[in-house]
Amino acid sequence: MMRYRRLAEGIDTVAVSVDGARVELPRGSSLLVALLVAGTPGAAADFHCAIGQCQRCLVRVDGQVRAACLCIPKGGESVDTRPLDGNAATGGNTA
Ligand code: FES
Repeated sequence: MMRYRRLAEGIDTVAVSVDGARVELPRGSSLLVALLVAGTPGAAADFHCAIGQCQRCLVRVDGQVRAACLCIPKGGESVDTRPLDGNAATGGNTA
């Protein structure tokens, strides 16, 4: 019987705080991926390009506005996913 190797086992992770909740993600993955996998994209849910061009994934990382798709967390960062304009998040990618 063929067995598949689980890729998730043994992967080094880093932890960040997303809107106050601890989220672990594989080291080297983008913050956008981590937010989507965790189901907590907030304002980044409206992302479009994932290559730093559209600026639709902006979140605050340690108080600074960053494009989540270009941010590679080192661990320990505090991420605020509330919309920068103060409006409610759209809740989904409409692209
Ligand atoms: S998704 Fe376009 S800049 Fe991040």
